[in-house]
Amino acid sequence: MCGIVGILGRGPVADQIVDSLKRLEYRGYDSAGVATLEGAHIDRRRAEGKLKNLEAKLGKSPLAGHIGIGHTRWATHGKPTEANAHPHAAEGVAVVHNGIIENFRELRIELEKGGAKFVSETDTEIVAHLVSSYLQKGASPIDAVKQSLPRLKGAFALAFLFKDHDNLMIGARKGSPLAVGYGDGEMYLGSDAIALAPFTDDISYLEDGDWVVLTRKGCEIHDESGNIVKRDVLKSGASAFMVDKANYRHFMAKEIHEQPEVVGHTLARYVDMASERVALPMKLPFDFKDVQRISITACGTASYAGFIAKYWFERFARVPVEIDVASEFRYREAPVRKGDLAIFISQSGETADTLAALRYAKQQGMHTLAVVNVTTSTIARESETVMPTLAGPEIGVASTKAFTCQLMALATLALAAGKARGELSDADEAKLVQALVKVPRLMADALTHEAAIEKLARDIAKSKDVLYLGRGTSYPLALEGALKLKEISYIHAEGYAAGELKHGPIALIDETIPVVVIAPYDRVFDKTVSNMQEVAARGGNIILMTDAKGAEEATVDSMVTIVMPDMDSAFTPLVYAIPVQLLAYHTAVVMGTDVDQPRNLAKSVTVE
Ligand code: M6R
Repeated sequence: MCGIVGILGRGPVADQIVDSLKRLEYRGYDSAGVATLEGAHIDRRRAEGKLKNLEAKLGKSPLAGHIGIGHTRWATHGKPTEANAHPHAAEGVAVVHNGIIENFRELRIELEKGGAKFVSETDTEIVAHLVSSYLQKGASPIDAVKQSLPRLKGAFALAFLFKDHDNLMIGARKGSPLAVGYGDGEMYLGSDAIALAPFTDDISYLEDGDWVVLTRKGCEIHDESGNIVKRDVLKSGASAFMVDKANYRHFMAKEIHEQPEVVGHTLARYVDMASERVALPMKLPFDFKDVQRISITACGTASYAGFIAKYWFERFARVPVEIDVASEFRYREAPVRKGDLAIFISQSGETADTLAALRYAKQQGMHTLAVVNVTTSTIARESETVMPTLAGPEIGVASTKAFTCQLMALATLALAAGKARGELSDADEAKLVQALVKVPRLMADALTHEAAIEKLARDIAKSKDVLYLGRGTSYPLALEGALKLKEISYIHAEGYAAGELKHGPIALIDETIPVVVIAPYDRVFDKTVSNMQEVAARGGNIILMTDAKGAEEATVDSMVTIVMPDMDSAFTPLVYAIPVQLLAYHTAVVMGTDVDQPRNLAKSVTVE
């Protein structure tokens, strides 16, 4: 994951920036760079690979500036070359960036028409040229950034350095994290408190849509509408431990909010955004054309990610998929075909049942592929192929960001299978990749419903039972919603396929039962509405999660409707996971449970 550092210092800052970037190494990266203001102009040093390569360059050719920005890059648009490394520069400005600029192609065409010359394959360079175009028209740096930000679509964080301005830096946050650090006659920007720990404990976390103007004396934070706002200055304490809660009350809350960023990074690992193609970085030891059946095995939340992926593999690649919880698969002596593919999904990579299932599949001569978050884990080591999810450390026992990163990795694998089997054309692939590229931004939009969900949680917390309903890919998400709620709030919850309601669970419905209906406006929406009617007729309280069209078309009164952004119906679970997680989280907070370490549960279940 990319890391951002910015320092307005009292002496040369390049070494400090590199030290700070070292603290961001844990996020993963494949190139790095620093820019400082040398006299009136901006100078840069960038290098492929690890920070030691950048240090060697700085050793030979030091930078003396007292203000600078630095970056560790996890390649998204374009290879991890020096030319693609940040900071990127255009006349008058340099920028570092974390995240994805979705509309980079349109902006690049527009800027090229205006005479901009691009020297990298990145989306970031577009930002430099865009700001520069306003500077060249006479705008001040602050106005140039102010005019540029609304034109950028995506989920991102940015830090800018300007020619001729030795006492000015600008940062912006939309979907990806960015923190301001307060020093003594110095000011800092960083991706997190860990980056800033060597310099200061006094941190403000920018909120989504914020942008900040820094000088050595302090900073002025603006919200998305341009109003000057105050953000709390907190004592970070990050120097004491490497993984902190930022300004969140629980790790789970922090991890829910990290999703636009980490899901974006997982996406970037498996697609080439510039060409809109799936580009798996690993060579598969099998051909999807020869696979007659896929078996997916996992536990808990990871198994629901697999269940959603079943719909994707069957739809995009027309290959039958069996989904099993690992504790059953390992003992049921499933007849499997040698040479077919077995996929195992695990955050920890140490889950005993999943590991045993993997070993069984290997014995049967299946190809094995593991989608794991901890790449040094046993499951990762023992699988033939590994697809890492780039969620970063997940501390909360309730899985959130690992789940959506698993979904993103599996979505790209399903597209790769569809392509290899001739079921998806180039045009289909490009359309579906474009839809995935929008997901981090849409997740950030979904997070804006938090206040409404927090209010709703106060009612849910009064209930003894909650039902979750969905059809298609929303059905496994309903199962995940129920699991999330029960494991952290201890309220009994069940997930059902909406169409199954009338076959039994409807007997439970009365006015004391909230029913969470996950129903994006898709081809089964009308059917789900019929099931909602059945609930409403029996006095059940409906909480509807849908989009604008769904909210308009739903003919049933709901207690609350949470309106999600419009999106491609294929990938709705990635975005609808956010309100589902927030509802469980805030209910647990109201209940006063130990959210991050709920009773009886372990993060890594290494026993049967
Ligand atoms: O580490 P794993 O992904 O293999 O763990 C699987 C389950 O134990 C895990 O998803 C569990 O269900 C979580 N507590 C769910 O939030």
